Amino acid sequence: MVGRRRFLYNSLSAGGAWLFIKNSPFFDARDSGATDAHIEVLLEEPLGIISPNIYGHFAEHLGGVIYDGIWVGEDSKIPNVNGIRKELVDEMRKIKAPVVRYPGGCFADSYDWRDGIGPAAKRPRRTNFWNDSESSSAPANHRYETNRFGTNEFLNFCKLIGCEPYLAANVRSLPAEEFYRWVEYCNSPAGSTTLAEERAGAGFPDPFGVHFWGVGNESWGCGGNFTAQEYAVEFRRYTEWVPRYGQQLSFIGSGPNTDEWNWTREFFQELVRKGNGRLHSLYGWALHHYSWNLSRGRTTDWVQGKGDALKFDAVDWYELLREGERMESLINGHWQVMGEIDREHLVKLVVDEWGPWYRPGSEATPGDQLEQMPTLRDAVFSGMTLDLFNRHPEKVAMANCAQLINCLNSLYLAHENKFCVTPVGHVFGMYAPHQGGQALRTIFSSPLIHYDRDGKPATFWRLKGSASLHEKQLVLTVVNAHVSESSEAEVAIRGAGIKSFEATTLTHPDIHAHNTFDQREVVKPQTSDKEVSSKTLRYIFPPASVTKLDLALA
Ligand code: AHR
Repeated sequence: MVGRRRFLYNSLSAGGAWLFIKNSPFFDARDSGATDAHIEVLLEEPLGIISPNIYGHFAEHLGGVIYDGIWVGEDSKIPNVNGIRKELVDEMRKIKAPVVRYPGGCFADSYDWRDGIGPAAKRPRRTNFWNDSESSSAPANHRYETNRFGTNEFLNFCKLIGCEPYLAANVRSLPAEEFYRWVEYCNSPAGSTTLAEERAGAGFPDPFGVHFWGVGNESWGCGGNFTAQEYAVEFRRYTEWVPRYGQQLSFIGSGPNTDEWNWTREFFQELVRKGNGRLHSLYGWALHHYSWNLSRGRTTDWVQGKGDALKFDAVDWYELLREGERMESLINGHWQVMGEIDREHLVKLVVDEWGPWYRPGSEATPGDQLEQMPTLRDAVFSGMTLDLFNRHPEKVAMANCAQLINCLNSLYLAHENKFCVTPVGHVFGMYAPHQGGQALRTIFSSPLIHYDRDGKPATFWRLKGSASLHEKQLVLTVVNAHVSESSEAEVAIRGAGIKSFEATTLTHPDIHAHNTFDQREVVKPQTSDKEVSSKTLRYIFPPASVTKLDLALA
């Protein structure tokens, strides 16, 4: 808690503004002078309700995500609930995790859901999709799937957290019938079908009521290498007759990789070949965008283009943010292409994989495939991305950060009895109050950041964010992208006065700062005391920071 002594407020009589003067704990040697910026929140310009599911997660049978990350086993000494790591459940409840996507990813299109049900001792061992790229030192259960964690365990995990499950079905290597059967296993009423009885035998007599279903994953690549037209035909077939059991099913189609506009266009053209009614069978169109190319334009090679999670300079910092910033044009672009066919925009975007992707080498647990160490840079990146989703509530129905634990942009790291919340996890905690809020148009005006990008002048924005309203409570989140300069801004709420506010900030003097199993609290949010104010406020956003202002409106 940042004490009142350290934040000094100066109530100005004219206009009743608050002035934060420069002795806050976030002013340090990096600061080369505050800038003049303005943030205007327009109460009269609502953008739509922010779907809580924008704050969703993704957990795949990959490396240490499931085994070690989520599943520790019922007989483990590690505190667990029915075999699931208790600390993880507790943390996910705190951030109000709304939805988790499972079991992949690429894994999904190699997975037979039947392998993961029934008595644990009888479940088969299979070769994991990711086996060929596992290191020889990886634990056996990362390479050969034991199926100890399957549908029942995942759905129980969701129940413990209090979130919605989102299951991704296998389109590449299982027939459509198996998709229907999985739905039947999960959703058929107690005692109604053989599969319902099998579910009851596992201790779950009542239907799980799963309503988000992914129809394949990356069907343009690991999910079958289809053309968009071929995949659309499969999508129509897989979703043509699926038992409902009185419940709404929301099907999510395997959408484009980044800016593959033609994947979107050709899929939609083929989907409606037999009539526009088919649009009603598609709830969401999945977009995947990883920010991986930090080569500053030198290469597009998937391996060579990657940067390092921990070793980076200021230019690399901006490079990552630039890659992430592309998300906004991807949302707008695919939305426009979808609108060529789906004129009423019945179908929403589901960004079910997003985040930075670095080269190997920063794993908290050596041998965990695709695990990387999230730093303050990734927290700022994540805040920026969540703000961006908040600004498009009418387009984005769900988003799933890749991936939850021990993987890419993880909220948590765990190994055996060790656990920590990463800076990314803290950002999700700070942003949780946006869930279900009314997004408001908010104008950010601040001088651009100018920097040298390998001998060429480059710019990036300095302050951006999003605002949402819950009755008289306004949540304003702001990213200061500058690596070393703070930014002083006048915050004005057009249409209401400010009664009180509380500021929570995540930053650190070192942009590489991160949390580890031994030093779990290097980067953590700090909250100021509540103060009472009136019309506008002036706030100094520290360099390289994510800030949340909770404002009670008069
Ligand atoms: O998140 C890792 C992988 O990235 C997923 O399995 C796949 O869908 C994507 O290519």
